[in-house]
Amino acid sequence: MNLILLGAPGAGKGTQAKLLVEKYGIPQISTGDMLRAAVAAGTELGKKAKEYMEKGQLVPDEVVIGLIEERLKESDCEKGFILDGFPRTVAQAEALEGVLEKMGKKIDHVIDIEVPEEELLKRLTGRRTCKKCGAMYHVVFNPPKQEGICDKCGGELYQRADDNEETVKSRLDVYHNQTAPLIDFYNQKGLLRRIEGTGSIQDIFSEIVKILEG
Ligand code: AP5
Ligand code: MG
Ligand code: ZN
Repeated sequence: MNLILLGAPGAGKGTQAKLLVEKYGIPQISTGDMLRAAVAAGTELGKKAKEYMEKGQLVPDEVVIGLIEERLKESDCEKGFILDGFPRTVAQAEALEGVLEKMGKKIDHVIDIEVPEEELLKRLTGRRTCKKCGAMYHVVFNPPKQEGICDKCGGELYQRADDNEETVKSRLDVYHNQTAPLIDFYNQKGLLRRIEGTGSIQDIFSEIVKILEG
């Protein structure tokens, strides 16, 4: 099962991807997580990516396309994968088609998680992420049992550098201008399924499973 999770910043792509990993045993491939790891490691790629991420802009297409191409070749992707945050431009979507074609693979479903803008702002500014295992929390909507500490692994929770109001607003603009056209792109290919991204995390997950198993 080869899946794309589409949706604005804060729509819940990462949250749902983690549940899908548990249920189906296929990897989550998040370009955002990969880029943040490169930034934290201080690699050349990380230094370059940081400038864009800080401003809420997209990292250049060729950089993320190269990352994805390498990642999809790894053996854990043989049974399937969940793309989270990639593709984000029409150029990335077209490049992905080329990469998959060379590998004899294709995308099975594109799930667009839709959430109203004012809700996205609240979700992103209240998000907390575990430093150790990447689990996501929200100070109001999904708080950890103990403030600042991950329920799953005891790791420290932190706030992403791009989750301040100003950067969130530019990420939302970038989404509307550069990523939203993918809704049409995949709709025309007959791959798009839209779901309501408001409601409980479990209910949304059930909706996704219904689509995948329908
Ligand atoms: P990336 O890391 O992909 O961030 P994003 O797309 O902005 O999406 P988020 O991770 O913010 O949101 P999400 O949908 O995963 O939501 P989550 O599940 O965490 O990208 C970051 C940056 O990297 C980009 O700006 C760009 O610079 C660069 N980049 C990455 N990919 C790139 C690419 N392909 N090309 C170019 N550049 C790229 O949930 C959010 C919050 O809501 C959490 O607190 C969660 O607990 C809460 N929540 C989740 N579900 C619910 C619910 N149902 N009800 C209430 N709260 C909920
Ligand atoms: Mg995410
Ligand atoms: Zn953790």
